[in-house]
Amino acid sequence: GAIPVLAVDGPTASGKGTLAAELAKALGYHLLDSGALYRATALAARNAGVALSDGPNVARIAARLDIRFDGESVWMAGQEVSHELRLESTGGLASQVSVHPEVRQALHELQLSFQRLPGLVADGRDMGTVVFPQAQLKVFLTASAEKRAERRYKQLIAKGISANIDSLLLDLQARDERDKSRAAAPLKPAEDALLLDNSELSIESSVEQVLGWWEQRK
Ligand code: C5P
Repeated sequence: GAIPVLAVDGPTASGKGTLAAELAKALGYHLLDSGALYRATALAARNAGVALSDGPNVARIAARLDIRFDGESVWMAGQEVSHELRLESTGGLASQVSVHPEVRQALHELQLSFQRLPGLVADGRDMGTVVFPQAQLKVFLTASAEKRAERRYKQLIAKGISANIDSLLLDLQARDERDKSRAAAPLKPAEDALLLDNSELSIESSVEQVLGWWEQRK
């Protein structure tokens, strides 16, 4: 039989990462944070002095990406990069490299390799549409831009990082726009995705909702 996949897609700061991690924990499944691969590619390209607009050369870097996930931490070429990877600025760089079809292609197989027994929860923008179109369940998670900016603001403040809610909102809208309007694998719900708006939902309620769907689908 096929190895089960639960795909979670959605815009920036929709809470996908948290939801996917909680689902993987509850189900005892592997977790793919595909955004981390785009983030890592962007950092590796920058460190190598490759312009983020140079699709073919960034793709070469993506194909040779030396990345390891170990619980909460991420290692690149033997260096702990968890903090740098999660920076808001790194997300912006990631969205620049992610527009290149060559880069997406270069990361395709690496993403497929995460599909292992007993199952996978995959988090990103195109998990249900491109990478795992056969997923048993596809969730498209949304929340209003204001709500997402507010959550991101609270996260940063809690980490002791100063932030401005208006500029966060603008950054987030710019990133959404770039992700939705690109030609290669734009951000959009798969035709058979179930939509979940978590603007007014707690994390626990979102997890419960998706686990309920999963019980019916798998
Ligand atoms: O999800 P995260 O914020 O880590 O993703 C960073 C960026 O990587 C996104 O803004 C998007 O441009 C890109 N990305 C993508 N496809 C994915 C995951 C992330 O294009 N599956």
